[in-house]
Amino acid sequence: MKRARAGWNGAVLVCGKCSRKLDGGFGAKGRSRLAKALRQCAGLGKGRKASVGVIETKCLGLCPKHAVTVVDTRRPGEWLVVEPGEDVAALAARFASPVR
Ligand code: FES
Repeated sequence: MKRARAGWNGAVLVCGKCSRKLDGGFGAKGRSRLAKALRQCAGLGKGRKASVGVIETKCLGLCPKHAVTVVDTRRPGEWLVVEPGEDVAALAARFASPVR
């Protein structure tokens, strides 16, 4: 097995199906998908150099209405249901901060 070095301290899983159903809902104009809005915040991203990876997944099975299911892999026992218009910067700060 080969290994690739990465700077990730964790990953944030964002349900892509929830995002698709919302057709945006986040960002300055409310038109961005949650994963894209999160990746634009400092420290988060999808490349190996980001401190926390943001991954858009298939359905996670929770399927909230008018919201997006999000799982922080460092807190797997606490899933988040994020509604459109919530403060993405505050959410990103939560993911970038050390787990308590
Ligand atoms: S559609 Fe997002 S959790 Fe099922």
